[in-house]
Amino acid sequence: MEPVRLGVNVDHIATLREARRSREPDPVAAAILAEMAGADQITIHLRGDRRHIQDRDVDLLRRSIKTRLNLEAAATPQMVTVASTHKPDTVTLVPERREEITTEGGLDVLLNQNLVRKTAQDLKAAGCEVSVFVDPDYDQIKAIAKLEIGLIEINTAKYSEALRPDQAAAEAEKVAQAARAASKLGMRVLAGHGLTYLNVRRIVRIAEIEELNIGHSIVARAALVGMERAVREMKDRMQR
Ligand code: PXP
Repeated sequence: MEPVRLGVNVDHIATLREARRSREPDPVAAAILAEMAGADQITIHLRGDRRHIQDRDVDLLRRSIKTRLNLEAAATPQMVTVASTHKPDTVTLVPERREEITTEGGLDVLLNQNLVRKTAQDLKAAGCEVSVFVDPDYDQIKAIAKLEIGLIEINTAKYSEALRPDQAAAEAEKVAQAARAASKLGMRVLAGHGLTYLNVRRIVRIAEIEELNIGHSIVARAALVGMERAVREMKDRMQR
């Protein structure tokens, strides 16, 4: 099996900075340290409310990092403009609600087919690869395939939030089945949300999953032990 790639989401480095509206800590410095420790990609979410990552960060990260930049964004004209300007390698379309603490659930592609189709076309025309953050739901995945989007990130939040071992096993199985179904439809499969040092192994075992995007758990550990060690320890747990 190919090793699973790690996308390190540095949003919460910016959250800490924005708590004081100051200049530190800097997501660019965090991203460079993450890359030095083996991160395969840097992931950021430019939210409509700009609560953590700012437009300037997108610009500086694009010009600083040496791996890939994955921009999580809502399907809005403003985000298409940002992507066209800064050309992240990948844009991951996510739903966004102003009141949410973090992304809640995958994008409802069945409900927003025209918007997702048009946004994906515009992003592809700008030279970005398009991914859609989606719940482990076959109908949603099929709808994404129909839009000729060949890349999905399966939402692992329900798995991560499961309290009992049998619930976690059942949610992991849903992720595995969704990954297999997407792969059969010819799609490439990524996953993420809520993954930690303790729960990541079960998702790593799903052969179809190429890459995990992990933020909160790595940044939380980095605050205590440093970014490089935090990334290395996650990479160690992601060995197949
Ligand atoms: N993938 C997507 C699409 C997300 O929106 C997020 C959160 O920004 C993550 C992965 C990372 O989630 P976490 O911070 O819980 O690891």
